[in-house]
Amino acid sequence: MTDVSKLTPFHDIYKTIRTDLNAVENLLKEIGGSSNPLIAEVNKYLFQKEGKRIRPALLILCSKLGGYRGTDHVFWSALVEIIHTASLIHDDIVDNSFLRRGRDTVHAKWGPNITVLLGDFLYIQSIALALRTKNHAIIDILADVTVRMIEGELIEYSITGKPELSEDLYLEILDKKTAQLFSASCRIGGVLAGSLPEEEQRLCEFGRNLGLSFQIIDDLLDFTGDEATLGKPILSDFREGRITLPLIHALRRTKGQARVELLHLIHNRKTEKNAGKKILAQIVSLGALDYAYQRAAAFSQKAKAILAAFPKSPHRESLNRMADMVLQRRK
Ligand code: FPP
Ligand code: MG
Repeated sequence: MTDVSKLTPFHDIYKTIRTDLNAVENLLKEIGGSSNPLIAEVNKYLFQKEGKRIRPALLILCSKLGGYRGTDHVFWSALVEIIHTASLIHDDIVDNSFLRRGRDTVHAKWGPNITVLLGDFLYIQSIALALRTKNHAIIDILADVTVRMIEGELIEYSITGKPELSEDLYLEILDKKTAQLFSASCRIGGVLAGSLPEEEQRLCEFGRNLGLSFQIIDDLLDFTGDEATLGKPILSDFREGRITLPLIHALRRTKGQARVELLHLIHNRKTEKNAGKKILAQIVSLGALDYAYQRAAAFSQKAKAILAAFPKSPHRESLNRMADMVLQRRK
C-alpha cells in the first residue's frame, strides 16, 4: 500500500487523514486498471507517482469538518483527482510542457494524439462512475466545474502573449482554471456532511481563496522555483507567453523606455538571448515578485478568516495549515 504521507510537502498536515488518502490511492489504481493495455499502461504511469493530492485532502477534511462519518468521501476524492489529472495532461499539450513531477509528461512519452484521447477517457470515465451514484447534487458540481476550467484555459490561451492583461482578468482566469476545482472539492465535502447552505457557501469561498493563492504561487514559482524541486521547468510560462501577476505588476510600474524594454522582452522572448534572465532581473527590481507573493498571502489569509467561522477542531486546524503551506511550498 502506498503511503502518500512520505511523498508530499503537505505530509505532516495529512497525518489525521492518512488512512483515507491511502484508500484514495488504492482506488485510483483500481479505477486506472483496464483490459486495454495502453489505457492500463498510461494510467499506471499517471497514478503510480503521487502528486500533492490537495484536492482529495480538501474534500476529505471538509467532509470531516461537517461531521461526516461515512465512506463515500474516498470515492469522490478519487474522482476529483482523476478530473484534475485529465485536465493536467490536456494542459501540458496546450502549454507545450514536457516535464511534470520530474518526469516526461504523457504527451512527451506517448504523443499528443493518444494523450488527448486518454484525457477524454479519464474525464468521461469519472463522469460515468459519478452517474452510477445518482448523487445529482455532486454530479452537477463536477460538470459545472469542468466547464469553468475549460473556459479558464480557453481565455488564458486566447490572450497568450498580450501584455495588456489586467489583474482582474488574470484573477478570473485563475479562478476558473484552478480555484473552482479547489472550491468544488471543499463543497463536495460539505454536501456529503449534509452541511447547511450557508456552511456550504463558506466552504466554497474557503476553497476558492485557497485555490487563488495556490495558483498565484504556482505562477511565482515559474520565476523563483528550483527546477529539480519543482519537477517542471522554470520560466516556461514566460516562454509560452503567459502574462502572470509578476509581469502584470512590472508592466504597471514602468513607463517610458523601461516599459518599451519590458515589452520588447515579452514580444521577443523566444529569440532574444537570455530573455528569461533579463525579465527576471526587471521584475525583481520592480518589486513585482513581492507584490505577487503579497496577493497570494492575502487570499490565503482570507481563506483562513472564512475557516474561523467553523467550530474549532483538528480538521479545521489541518485546513488552516494547508492555507499556510500553499504559501510556503517550493513544489
Ligand atoms: C494548470 O495550469 C492547468 C489547470 C489548473 C487547468 C487545466 C484545465 C483544462 C485543460 C480544461 C479541463 C479539461 C478536462 C479534461 C477536465 P498551469 O498551466 O498554470 O499550471 P502548470 O504549470 O502546473 O502546468
Ligand atoms: Mg501548464
